[in-house]
This record gives sequence, C-alpha cells and structure tokens, in this order.
Amino acid sequence: MPTVLFHPDHRLWLLRGPTAAYAVRLAEDGAVRHVHWGAPITLDQAVQAGERTSPAASSFEAVAGVDELTVEGGARFGPPSLLVRFSDGTRALQWRYAGHDVDGGHLSIHLDDQHYPLRVTLHYHMHPDSDVLERWTTVRNLDAHHPVTLLRCDSATWTVPGRPHYRLSHLVGGWNSEFQLRRTEIPVAETVLTSRRGMTSHHANPWIAVDDGTATEEHGEVWSTALAWSGSWRITVHRDPVGRTTWTGGFGHEGLTWTLAPGEALDTPTVAGLYSVGGFGSASRAWHGYVRRHVLSHPDETRPVLYNSWEATGFDVDEAGQMALAARAASLGVELFVMDDGWFGARSSEHAGLGDWVPNPARFPTGLRPLASEVRRLGMRFGLWVEPEMVNPDSDLYRAHPDWVLHMANRDRTEMRHQLVLNLARPDAAEWTHSWLDRLVSKHDIDFLKWDANRPFTEAGWPGHGDPDRLWIAHTRAVYQIMDRLRADHPDLRIEACAGGGGRADLGVLARTDQVWTSDNTDPVDRIGIQHGFGQLYPAQVMGAWVTDSPNVATARRTPLRFRFHVAMAGVLGIGGDLTAWTEEELTEAAGLIATYKLIRPVVQHGTAYRLRGDGTLTGMQYVHGDDHVLLAWCPTRRFGHQPPPLRLASVDVAATYRDLESGATYPGALLRHAGLPLDLPPGDHASTLVRLRHLG
Ligand code: GLA
Repeated sequence: MPTVLFHPDHRLWLLRGPTAAYAVRLAEDGAVRHVHWGAPITLDQAVQAGERTSPAASSFEAVAGVDELTVEGGARFGPPSLLVRFSDGTRALQWRYAGHDVDGGHLSIHLDDQHYPLRVTLHYHMHPDSDVLERWTTVRNLDAHHPVTLLRCDSATWTVPGRPHYRLSHLVGGWNSEFQLRRTEIPVAETVLTSRRGMTSHHANPWIAVDDGTATEEHGEVWSTALAWSGSWRITVHRDPVGRTTWTGGFGHEGLTWTLAPGEALDTPTVAGLYSVGGFGSASRAWHGYVRRHVLSHPDETRPVLYNSWEATGFDVDEAGQMALAARAASLGVELFVMDDGWFGARSSEHAGLGDWVPNPARFPTGLRPLASEVRRLGMRFGLWVEPEMVNPDSDLYRAHPDWVLHMANRDRTEMRHQLVLNLARPDAAEWTHSWLDRLVSKHDIDFLKWDANRPFTEAGWPGHGDPDRLWIAHTRAVYQIMDRLRADHPDLRIEACAGGGGRADLGVLARTDQVWTSDNTDPVDRIGIQHGFGQLYPAQVMGAWVTDSPNVATARRTPLRFRFHVAMAGVLGIGGDLTAWTEEELTEAAGLIATYKLIRPVVQHGTAYRLRGDGTLTGMQYVHGDDHVLLAWCPTRRFGHQPPPLRLASVDVAATYRDLESGATYPGALLRHAGLPLDLPPGDHASTLVRLRHLG
C-alpha cells in the first residue's frame, strides 16, 4: 500500500504509517492547510475532514484552519514558521501552488510566492515501517538579481486536534542535571522552548510531547516531535483562545537572519513527528524504533563496555597512569579504553592547551603509540577525548589564529572554562579541524572519539563577513560535515557525542555518532531521573552510563557498587572510577557485574524498553528481546518498615510461563502482570535488583 496518496479533485494529500495518518490540503488562497494528524483514515475520510473548516468567528479572525508552514501575511496572527523580507521591504507571503512530487514515501509540495521569485518546498517523508513523519522545508530565492532575507525559517508547523485540555511534556535541566521530565498544562499563550547557546543545550531538549492531560504511561494519545539539530533552536507552542494548539520549531533562535543570495536555497533540518496511542511508554518505544532504524548508522552493533579515565585522573594524565588503569580495566572485562582530557599540548588544567592536538611530550614522551599498543595488547579498543570546536587563548592555535574564534568588533571575548569557540563556519578553520582529526585517527587507528564541546557561543560574530548570523547554522553544519567525512574515511571509527555531559543530544548528532555521554553527573540516584527523561526519546543503546567511585564526585553520596552498576546497566555500561583505588573485593564484584551486563546487553541495547513504576520509591525498567526479559529495579530510599510490593511487569504474555534464569523459579505470566514479580531487594537505601526471565511459552 503506498504511503503517500493524492486526491486530485480535492487537492489533498494523505500520508499513512502503520498505525497513524497525516493529511494536508491545498486551500483556495494557495496555502497548504493542515487536515489530520492521528489515527489511520482513508482518503475519503480525509476529504471529509478537510471540508470541516470553521467559519471565522468575527472580523478579527479571517484565515480558517492552520497552515502547514505558518507565515506572515493576510489575516494571520500566530507565530510564523517562515518570515521573509524581500529586497524592496515587502514582508508578507502570498502563495501559488507550483506542483508536487512523490518519490516513494517522500512528498514534496512546491509553493511559489504570487509576485516575488521565491519558492518554498514542504517536504514530508514517511518510512513504511514507522509512524514517524519527517518534515523539513526548502526555501529557494529564484530571483536572479536580488537577495531575500530570511528572518525565521522553521522546519514545520504542527497542529493537533481540538481537545478540552492540552498538556506539554518537555525536558529541562542544566549541567549535571540534564533531561528532567516536566509535564505542565499548556497555557493559552505562546510558550517558547529554546537554546540560544549554539548547542542543543543541557537546559532544554528539542523534543516535546502533547496530550490532552489524560495520557498515562500505558494509555492515551500522544503527539510528539523531535528536531534533528545540534545548534541553537526554538520551538513555540501556541494555544490560542479558541482552543487550538499548534507549534512551530526549527533551527536558530530569535533575531538571527540568513540572507539568501540570488539563486541560493536553504534547507532546514528535519523535524520528526509521531502520533501514537498507548501512552507515553508506547510513544517512547516508537521513537526508539525510529532512532534505531532511521537515524543511527550502526544500530545492530552492540556497544562495548568502555572505561573512561576522566573521573579517575582529571587532568593528571600520563602514560604510566593510563597503562595502570588500562590493565585493571582489561582485567574487569572492559572492551574499549578511552583516555579523556589532558593528553595533548600544555593541557594540564582547564587553562591552556586546548587546540594543540599533539601528545604532551612530558606525559607521552614517544607519543601515543605505546599506550595504544598496550591497550590493544590487553584486548581492548582505543579511544580518545577531543574537543575540536574549542580553543584556550593560551594555546599555539590561538596565538597563530586569533581571528578563527567567534568574536565581534569592539566587544570582549567572553571566556567560559577559559576557552573560546572556533568559528567552524570559516572554511579554513573547518578544514584545519578535519585534517588534524583525520591525521590523529589514521596515525593511531583510533576506534572511538569522545567529541566534547564545553561551552556555549558568546559574541558569535564574524567580522568582515557580510552575513555573519549564518555562522550559527553553518558552524553546526561544519561539525556534521567533519564527522560525516571522518566516518566515511574511517568506517570503523565510532563517536560519542558530548557537550559537558548531555548538552548535545538530539536526532541530528545521533545521525553521525553512536552514543551520547548522558551527563557528567554519575551519581546513580540522580541518574535515575536523568535516564528517565533521556529515555523518553532516545534508546538505551545510545545512553552512555558509567559506574564511578563512591562517594560520588558531584554529590558526595555514598552508594553500593551493585546499585551503581544496576543503574548504569540500563544503558551502555562504562566504568569511570579510579580503579587503582578499588579494593580486591570491589574489583571482583565489578568483574562479575560486567560479565552479567554482557549477558543482558543484547536485551537492553536491542530490546524493547518498558518503564515500570513501583510504589513511588521503587522504579524500574523491563527490556524485552525475543523470549528474553531483563528487569532492573531501583529503590533509592526507604521508610521504616517499608518493603516495596512486587513489581508488575508491563510486557507479559499472561498465558505463558516465565523462568528466572538465576534462581530457576518459574512464574505464570498472569501473576507477573497482575500481582507482580516479588523482588529480592537488599535492606536499606540504594537497594536494587536485576532479574533475567525467559518466556517459556
Ligand atoms: C566534559 C565532559 C567530561 C570530561 C571533561 C574533560 O565536562 O563531559 O566527561 O570529558 O569535559 O574536560
């Protein structure tokens, strides 16, 4: 069955996924209007839905229905997705339909301005195996002589059906506290979620979900969208007084412009939208499936257990110290050893060396080769931390190229963490960056790069450039191009996206990386909440999670090793503690837990994830892969006399029997679903458990 259907008489298009549909129509004024986003419907039903436009209630409301790309012009007063200014000062747009193309699941609808030579193409793409609809916009200046200024160019406008209430789910946070899930009634107002930092940000993530206030983890309709972009972004949710909720979103924040030269075009990033029934859990599972099948490059690969030296050494990195850590890591069963910050230039603190990507001769007298060889001799892959977009003013790079950083005439260059941002929109700076990375990866056969970015943009200017604002977009595109080029030339290279922890997690960066460093906060109690938010959109397979020392460096909280492991096992397990200080008992316990992780990781990394809510103190995850089920349950704190009740599983065949692979005990599925699995939790706070169940049929 084709994914895209067209009704020529009604000039209506219908896109169909396995369990969702999306319809738009051409209106009399030449604009494309929203018709339907929800349950599957037929073309005839879509035609009927398209005819139900409510008349204007007063002379203050004229345009009936919501445009698929809202603009300024005519009687439109909501937040525009596209704002342009032509060279004669005219700003409004008036559309004329200029045809459409269908190529497999990709529908392109072309609209021309009625007077000015400007073409806008609305793109819609659906994969046959997913309900996720990908949308983006192309704006092309067809004028041979005049530029046109884009004041705003979002990827798409989204509209949800009328409901008495609307609730917004979104992620907030900060450094060390990323991905905190918030649910709030959408006010009758414009609600802006944004990053003005040049990066996706710790503070908000470009994902939102909207429901009518009644959805739960297991029930209800949810409409959600996610932007595939790693620079600044903005999403404006508009609930109007007559009860309609729409939103527009895309790259860049307010006030940035892009001048399209004659003949030039701008493509926005993709924004993906998902309609799902079955509550927030089912929405997350649909997103996870989409990320695996259509975003990640190596979804079938099982991510290795890594060791990262950062929390163990800070900047005190040298060959002997790294070799000692590598030996311990290998003995635990670690598969990838990653040396973090401090290996290059004069980088013995935050103050100097960033940008000088040659091994520090005092720390690595004969270069990185001895360490890389030793790591490989120990049976591990070798990875390195890099921060390619940044420079310390105290560096040879900055002394040679002070003009390569973002800066503005007559303004201070604000330092954060004693560093400045390289302007990778500059072709020379981008080419230089690619070449040192390419040399580094080639020379040492680097298996893995942790690509960090530890500060936001400030004074983002480009003196001498006629259209400096475009660097906000061009920088991110240059980062993408460098990553894409490196990966094309080094097919075995894997990349972890990091920006001071989880400051750059989005569908754009995931299209060219393999995992994300979720947060610099490795405290397992805090991590439960961080991982809960992260998992709303992103699958466990990309969620980097380390076990570090106790007390935790960030929170000073003491937790048992087993609890730290059980929390980190919900993602891509890593070890980040100072292994030279771990006792023999701890090392033995850790080796056993890593071995257990290797047993469960096909289920965690490639399975289907269900969030489990216990009694308020207890939470957990259930992962299902074929007949294998893995349960992780965490109980950070307990009141006197309190024993959490059995944990009800979310995905169970009630007619089947399940065996606990550890104890051999068997459980009827009906019991697991209705009464729950009795948990063997140790007493006290920071209790956790891991259960492997097999479906016996
Ligand atoms: C960032 C990362 C950390 C570590 C440091 C090194 O904060 O998130 O994991 O790599 O930089 O400077």
